[in-house]
Amino acid sequence: MRRKLVVGNWKLNGSLSENKVLIASLLKNLNTIQTTDFAICVPYTYLFQAQALLTGTNIFWGAQNVSQFRDGAHTSSISAHMIADFDCSFAIIGHSERRALSNESNQKAAKRFARVVNAGITPIYCVGETAEERAEGLAENVVKNQILAITYGLDESTFEYAKQVDMVIAYEPVWAIGNGRTASPQQAQDMHAFIRDLIAKIDADFSKRVRIIYGGSVTPDNALALLSMPDIDGGLIGRCSLIAEEFSQICHLAS
Ligand code: PGA
Repeated sequence: MRRKLVVGNWKLNGSLSENKVLIASLLKNLNTIQTTDFAICVPYTYLFQAQALLTGTNIFWGAQNVSQFRDGAHTSSISAHMIADFDCSFAIIGHSERRALSNESNQKAAKRFARVVNAGITPIYCVGETAEERAEGLAENVVKNQILAITYGLDESTFEYAKQVDMVIAYEPVWAIGNGRTASPQQAQDMHAFIRDLIAKIDADFSKRVRIIYGGSVTPDNALALLSMPDIDGGLIGRCSLIAEEFSQICHLAS
């Protein structure tokens, strides 16, 4: 039985004072739930605050990306080892907004993925097709190539590390992100099952325990139907993660 995981992706939002209020509400609303994992992925500047407020609680924290480099002359970049200093449990990798903004290829996302697992942090590796790709019948092919980049595209020892840190996959159809247009539970389930089958071809045991979470306009209204599907192990939540009541409701539904 896979434990459900609900992750808030704060994106480019927050301030020290707002975060304090939001985190206090989440702690109050979620402190009795022991059966589900929760996390918030915050902007780098708030990792210290998240660490200070969440250490010893049942909410994990993480970052929204890392550099593909370990260190060196890469102005403005942040490495996996730097976020490890703040006890991050998770790092989102390959989010479609990053892929679009910086023209990120699957190979580059895979390098970031490798940095994260080598730092002992759990990557939440995002995959998903655009509306055009789905309309052309290419959705499965696009997702397959994204998954192959972090499986066959990496050396065996990196994939072993990825299993050890319980890597997470987030299926986020690009057409469903941030616009209120969510995938139907069956559409999402079909893609999650497809991803699990792909992973089974590499490691059948691991495919049974890898968590595949869904993201794209998840709200308290649609969360239960999505999270009840057999291969949907949780959610990656954008807009609703900024509203304590809504995020907490989704977490309660997941548990
Ligand atoms: P959304 O964002 O919930 O606002 O659609 C999800 C995400 O981008 O991770």
